[in-house]
Amino acid sequence: MRIKKLQIINFRNYEKLYVDLDPNINIFLGNNAQGKTNLLESIFYFAGGRSNRTFQDRELIRLNQSFFNIAAELETLNGSYHLKIAYTQEGKKKIKINGLEKKSMPKDFKAVIFSPDDLNLAKGSPSGRRDFLDREIGQISSIYSKTLRDYTKILRQRNKVLKLSMDWKKTEEDLSLWDEQFIHYGSLVLKKRLETIQKLSILSRLVYRRLTDNKENLHLNYVSGLEINHDSELEHIKSMFREQLNILKKDELKNRVSLLGPHRDDLKILIDNQPAKNYASQGQQRTCVLALKLSIMEIIKGKWGEYPVLLLDDVFSELDQSRRIFLVQEIKKGIQTFITGTREEEILNNLNVPAKIFLIKQGNVKVL
Ligand SMILES: Nc1ncnc2c1ncn2[C@@H]1O[C@H](COP(=O)(O)OP(=O)(O)OP(=O)(O)O)[C@@H](O)[C@H]1O
Ligand SMILES: [Mg+2]
Repeated sequence: MRIKKLQIINFRNYEKLYVDLDPNINIFLGNNAQGKTNLLESIFYFAGGRSNRTFQDRELIRLNQSFFNIAAELETLNGSYHLKIAYTQEGKKKIKINGLEKKSMPKDFKAVIFSPDDLNLAKGSPSGRRDFLDREIGQISSIYSKTLRDYTKILRQRNKVLKLSMDWKKTEEDLSLWDEQFIHYGSLVLKKRLETIQKLSILSRLVYRRLTDNKENLHLNYVSGLEINHDSELEHIKSMFREQLNILKKDELKNRVSLLGPHRDDLKILIDNQPAKNYASQGQQRTCVLALKLSIMEIIKGKWGEYPVLLLDDVFSELDQSRRIFLVQEIKKGIQTFITGTREEEILNNLNVPAKIFLIKQGNVKVL
């Protein structure tokens, strides 16, 4: 997958921008707050039609403007096409492929982003790890994002019923209207998460061992309120869900909130059998995230036949020499990569491969 040209209007701090991109490596240099991360965000947006930083598309519109437009010339195994996305302040989004209006985003363009925010994955909150899982699984399976949205909608309805509850008998009746759908979508989400974590666990274990000179072991575990694992059939997950929900119903009525389901689960990351949340060093956390991201790239390659584009936001400076070298070897597999940073030598000294270098200054980009 490649992005050949990029055109943006009124996106974040960019008024107007048009750039031809290198098919292999693009480096964006600039001081703080000039627009490096914003540029990567615009590229990420083409992979699925949402930002990696916010759920509110309105935030992406340049301040004091009423719309943004972003367009790109994309190349995938299916050929080249022109994708344009327009978004207005009123919340209207228009997607055009080769000039023709479409209802949904194309599914064959993917991006993996690795940013300083990700470095908090192992030690951060369970909700951060759930978001990570949901975002990455969404890239691998387009149906997953839709299922998750359906689940979240029903969860909201269910929580509303619990919150407004006056009389337990009536609340139980109201809940029963939602419960079958809740169990259905929740189980689909769980099944996909378990399947993906199983793959991710195997791959990231291998990458992590290579990154640590075969010295350390990474292991992923899905922590659920249900006793299920990656072998569990959908019907089994559903019946466990139903059973456990019944047991917890009294507590739910007391607490006025849904206590069971994928929205309460967590991804447990273990390094040498110790929970990374409590024990991992800074370096181990970085290595862990690097291993996970590179594994996701491999899963996407396995499923779609080609690597996604890789967005490395300011992470070169966060990695030590041996990890930088490892990363550069990965990039050399023919992955179109976008690297941002403030210091030219930090990136170039490690790269040793031809790259197109851009300088970003207050939302203006020029080729160096
Ligand atoms: N909707 C918006 N409209 C106008 N400006 C915005 C908007 N959203 C963000 N900005 C501004 O864009 C500027 C550049 O942000 P960006 O995150 O891209 O910086 P950066 O070059 O990555 O800096 P750093 O090196 O600190 O990470 C910031 O000053 C930010 O306030
Ligand atoms: Mg930045």
